[in-house]
Amino acid sequence: TPPPVPAEKLLAFAAVPKSLADMVTVPAGYTASVIYALGDPLNGTTPAYKNDGTDDNFDTRAGDHHDGMEFYGLSATGSASTSSSERGLLAVNHEATTDAKLSSFFLHANGGATTLPRPAAEVDKEIAIHGVSVVEVKKTGTAWAYVRESSFNRRLTPLSDIELSGPARGNALLVTKYSPTATKTRGTLNNCGTGKSPWGSFLTGEENWAGYFTRGAADDAARGNDKSVTSLKRYGRAQGAASRHGWESAGSDDKYARWDISRKGASLDGSDDYRNDINGMGYIVEMAPYDKSKSAKKRTALGRYAHESAAFGNPVAGQPLAVYMGDDSRNEYIYKFVSSAVWAAADASAPDRVAMGDKYLDSGKLYVARMNPDGSGQWIELNISNAAIAGNSVYKFADQADVLVNARLAADAVGATKMDRPEWCSVNPANGEIYYSLTNNSNRAVDPTSSQLAPDGPNPRAYTDMKGSSAQSGNPNGHLLRMKEGAGATAATSFTWDVYLFGAEAGASGGFVNLSSLTADQDFSSPDGLAFSPYTGICWIQTDDGAYTDVTNCMMLAAIPGTVGDGAKVTLNHPKANGGTLAVDTYVGKKPTADTLKRFLVGPSGCEITGLCETPDGKSMFINIQHPGETTAQANLGDPSKYTSQWPSNAGYGAGKRPRSATIVITKNDGGRIGT
Ligand code: FEO
Ligand code: CA
Ligand code: CA
Ligand code: CA
Repeated sequence: TPPPVPAEKLLAFAAVPKSLADMVTVPAGYTASVIYALGDPLNGTTPAYKNDGTDDNFDTRAGDHHDGMEFYGLSATGSASTSSSERGLLAVNHEATTDAKLSSFFLHANGGATTLPRPAAEVDKEIAIHGVSVVEVKKTGTAWAYVRESSFNRRLTPLSDIELSGPARGNALLVTKYSPTATKTRGTLNNCGTGKSPWGSFLTGEENWAGYFTRGAADDAARGNDKSVTSLKRYGRAQGAASRHGWESAGSDDKYARWDISRKGASLDGSDDYRNDINGMGYIVEMAPYDKSKSAKKRTALGRYAHESAAFGNPVAGQPLAVYMGDDSRNEYIYKFVSSAVWAAADASAPDRVAMGDKYLDSGKLYVARMNPDGSGQWIELNISNAAIAGNSVYKFADQADVLVNARLAADAVGATKMDRPEWCSVNPANGEIYYSLTNNSNRAVDPTSSQLAPDGPNPRAYTDMKGSSAQSGNPNGHLLRMKEGAGATAATSFTWDVYLFGAEAGASGGFVNLSSLTADQDFSSPDGLAFSPYTGICWIQTDDGAYTDVTNCMMLAAIPGTVGDGAKVTLNHPKANGGTLAVDTYVGKKPTADTLKRFLVGPSGCEITGLCETPDGKSMFINIQHPGETTAQANLGDPSKYTSQWPSNAGYGAGKRPRSATIVITKNDGGRIGT
């Protein structure tokens, strides 16, 4: 259903200035309140969070690094409700944890071990703060709070039992000690972007899971230099790769040893063989937010890569469903899944949400995007019957499950377009156009080395810094790309694209930097979180920036975008090092005005702004503040004055001064809708 025509003017608020203050700033007339932070207990027996490094029991507390998030309404009597704006569940991703070297130092009294082996007690905490939480939230008067003892509260962690579903279920690539039949996998990890299905389930994307696994220095030969080595290298695990936290060093128990994917046993007979454990990560995972009794499921049909969000095309009865997704790594791809089943509107209210996922997400076609210089593009199906995949010389695909588990290699084989790090995507509810955040890319250069790519139409910029230094490499600011499906709508195999917005510093003068003519009320860098409000139609843009943080903390902007093709073709004549130019044609959307793009929020120091959901009345918005103070030096742990952030304790929330990732709720003081 299209969003209701708003009675009030959108983006009527006064723009929030850029800021380095250690606080959440919202426009005059709005209030932001912290409601759910790292460590908050999710039952009546887990003690209150002391926030001094002595807390434990993290599998019954809020996890760390709050990321994507969705809202599921509850009626006054506690039943599922799509209309309630007073009470509901938040399903929250807990992506990662703040670390300097190995340990998540804010979790440990002394900061934890920075050398191997890691103590098991430290690792147990760190494992448990990853995953997902479901937490009830409730409004009393005008104030929201989380409900500590709600029976709906739930955690998924890297130790949870999760079912494998779709074409790769039962495949040899997923046979592990944990599941010799390849029907299950242990846990979910690095949960980043989210999605909400038309039938009301929660989707969570596994992103930087690869970095949690280690491989021995001689593992290529130990694997017989077989094709698994090709797969591991393509997913960022060359032999000798160290793991992010060294969890594998904490003991011989499977829950630690599994993070070392070097060959351990002679065969997959139940002895200590963890070679395939990494193949169980990297999926879109579906969960029934209202029903703790239902196992979450990994939807292998949607492919395995560094997932961000999963955005559904606007569902049309009798038509297949489309799920748009990105792979956030430098020079990776944009994907689309199209269901075999056609949409039945009655399924929107089906009581068993995971069963609906079985219907729509286990069978279909996975496509990857190839973009042409003339503003057109094709969706290319990743199918074992495609000669470029079946006859690939880099990697010998065994079957369709292998294509899905090694989707990156299949996408390479069909010549998909390498992008500037696809983060979140979202679909405009008004017209079905698809928006992608391309956050930044240091591997883009006018004169590329072997690890870099030259600029092209959909990724047209290359310059070193925020000002547009004359060194023509990198895309530090990122941009937002959008796509319009051709004939066939969600099932289309062709599309058109343009660049909706270029991130830039307003004062940048060099190079091809401020191509969208951003003003000081609009300028941003490294778009990441991206969500259209189904209630107001506003496009919310959130940033995760390392390039602009000398000037401003990360932020959220409100936008009213136009449509694909509403701007102009532009030719960028990049000067090459040895003379001559690299001419790149691109398509730039209609430039924003003060009425169509405005900064709405700036976060505390060192954070990323991410995750967004609203109550159905559009009057309460939940967003996440991820990793405030992450630049704190571990050596300064005993001296709060040296923490680079003390949020949210400095906003009056919780004990201790160590910074904490947290969910905030934004309301308008006059009771109006958010963004008006
Ligand atoms: Fe978890 Fe690419 O952001
Ligand atoms: Ca992200
Ligand atoms: Ca990011
Ligand atoms: Ca992050």
